[in-house]
Amino acid sequence: MAFTLSRRQFVRKAATLSVLPFVPRFLGAEASGAQRVLVRTDAEVGVVRPEFHGHFAEHLGSCVYGGLWVGKNSPIPNINGYRKLAVEYLRELGVPVLRWPGGCFADDYHWRDGIGPYPQRPKRVNIHWGSYVEDNSFGTHEFIGLCRLINAEPYFAGNVGSGSPSELRDWIEYCNFPSGSTLAEERSANGSPEPFHVRYWGVGNESWGCGGDMKPEEYVSLYRKFAVYCREFGGTKPFLVASGPSGNDLRWSRGFMDGIRGANPQGLSMHYYTGGRDRATEFTPEHANDQFAIYPRVEQAITQQRSLLDSYRDGQNIGLILDEWGVWDRIPPEDEKRYGKLWQQSTMRSAVAAGLGLNIFNRLADKLYMCNIAQIVNVLQSLLLTDGPTGEHCVRTTTYHAFALFKAHRSQKAIRTETEGASAQGLSVSASKSDKQIVLSFVNPRSDAGVQVDCTLVGGSAKAGNAQILHDNDLNAYNSFEQPNRVMPQPHPVQVGGSKIQIDLPRLSVATVTLQLA
Ligand code: AHR
Repeated sequence: MAFTLSRRQFVRKAATLSVLPFVPRFLGAEASGAQRVLVRTDAEVGVVRPEFHGHFAEHLGSCVYGGLWVGKNSPIPNINGYRKLAVEYLRELGVPVLRWPGGCFADDYHWRDGIGPYPQRPKRVNIHWGSYVEDNSFGTHEFIGLCRLINAEPYFAGNVGSGSPSELRDWIEYCNFPSGSTLAEERSANGSPEPFHVRYWGVGNESWGCGGDMKPEEYVSLYRKFAVYCREFGGTKPFLVASGPSGNDLRWSRGFMDGIRGANPQGLSMHYYTGGRDRATEFTPEHANDQFAIYPRVEQAITQQRSLLDSYRDGQNIGLILDEWGVWDRIPPEDEKRYGKLWQQSTMRSAVAAGLGLNIFNRLADKLYMCNIAQIVNVLQSLLLTDGPTGEHCVRTTTYHAFALFKAHRSQKAIRTETEGASAQGLSVSASKSDKQIVLSFVNPRSDAGVQVDCTLVGGSAKAGNAQILHDNDLNAYNSFEQPNRVMPQPHPVQVGGSKIQIDLPRLSVATVTLQLA
């Protein structure tokens, strides 16, 4: 939860905690104009699981074909068919988990189409994303190969909408059974004698929509049936993820939980996109604010979905997964024609939106299990963009850099922050700590004003610190193929004096402060 205190409450609280009110400002500005933040090093929320920074790759547009995978004979520099630059950038960032092959595509995907010698793989029409023909050259082995290259944990989304329990069961055996069964031998003959040890298995995707258009009671009975056959093979216990609500649809989650009768999944997947009214590079400040204003609703949705799960028997053991999130702007058909379906630029606004989301995950670290932004390359709020499936360029987007700024939080303990008088359009903050350091993240979503931040560490003191910032005065600034490094993280001044931290954040900025504890 974002803790917001009125000025009076804040002063009272600061007094109770023996926190001295701020008076002098290191930067020479008036303290009265500063936004005051308490960082409660004594109030741990939960671990910032690296999986909060997870990703999603669907057979959609140029995400897989032409994005991640260019094929072994491509003139584009590649490592066994994987786009070399994409692999390098993703390795550098670190991708804790990668979900595949959909999305909507998952419920029309039959895994056997994507194994065995390439020429014999069938060509299939991608019915959800433009009816183009897929040659299935990227299948199970290629996906696992990618995960190994970038050190990501694989997460498969199984087909419930048009598949069968036996098909999903066989996929799990094919991946995980060590040897001796016909499916394990087939995997070995296809080049992988070692099992893949795939733990995460989605049981359908958006089963209320493109994944079968079901009612919760229909889906839950199908889920139960599928789950019976999704077994442990070769010592890898599957972590089953059930298809959860669209946004904060509590009716769906309640219907599912009412029908599950003890056969609880390990995870429940919710999807929450933040829609935008403009083309990514043409946002007005007003429409950007409308989009930012959705984030408090995302925070509320996570909190309410968590409470709902917790209210059922053993529901607290179900991991809440925000399986698809991010900005979904207006995408003109000419952009899709040129670069691929759902291809969308990432701008300074998108980076702010990413920061708002990642701050929420830190603040709700006790309520979440995993979060996967949609999608990793060339689709929606991606980390990387290429100039279409045949383009050689590959740029790191502003969203990539926002994720990089949050990396220091991974595996630390989230701690509570309290902000004085914050509004939905105001400063967003989160914090985490380890034995040696405290990491603070700030997002200033305002297009019209900078903000001075005065922080007090309650129960801690810092001996040194540094800050990095991602900032551009232009809401619509982005990294293009011509100017790939226009918006990049830069060092930024921060004043550290024991328990007092001061930083000035320009408008439209995402900043991370790393403090060495005294
Ligand atoms: O990410 C794009 C699509 O959005 C996914 O295929 C689907 O799950 C969601 O509706």
